[in-house]
Amino acid sequence: MKKVLWILLVLLLILQVIPSNRPEVNPDNPSDLIVNNEIPDPIVHILKNACYDCHSNESHYPWYAYVAPVSYLVNRDIREGRSHLNFSDWEIQPVSKKLKFLSEISEEVLDKSMPMKIYPPLHPEARLTDAQRQALSDWTEEFGETLF
Ligand code: HEC
Repeated sequence: MKKVLWILLVLLLILQVIPSNRPEVNPDNPSDLIVNNEIPDPIVHILKNACYDCHSNESHYPWYAYVAPVSYLVNRDIREGRSHLNFSDWEIQPVSKKLKFLSEISEEVLDKSMPMKIYPPLHPEARLTDAQRQALSDWTEEFGETLF
């Protein structure tokens, strides 16, 4: 039994030195949604605290995101999240795409699919109240109207 534990420990250590292909962080995003638009503070607060880690190039990696195999899961969520919707690339999207994103944001937040279930327990600032979800949804409609 002891031998098995040692083998596991060694395997875990080996995993740590294999490059994990972590999505890059870039704090300078000239096409960012928040940089280019006047968005009310409470909405900025929600987006930054509950969405930007997975849906922008400004992801903050907590310490455990550097530890394999957890890092694989974190990296996958961020890569997938960015590929669906990346607020850092907002301005380069056509209006039709922006409108589609806005309605998806509203839908995902109201039905509590987003932020991903695994995220708020580890990030208390991302625990959204029903009022915050409604506020974000209302904002998507108001903001959508300004795009015409
Ligand atoms: C922990 C990472 C994570 C967080 C935090 C997160 N998302 Fe996501 N999001 C994903 C992933 C992964 C996908 C793609 C898979 C899926 O749809 O579940 C996604 C998909 C989406 C989509 C696209 C759905 C579609 O149909 O293509 C929208 C819109 C979205 N998220 C909005 C949000 C909003 C708004 C927030 C903040 C309130 C948020 N997400 C927070 C990881 C995250």
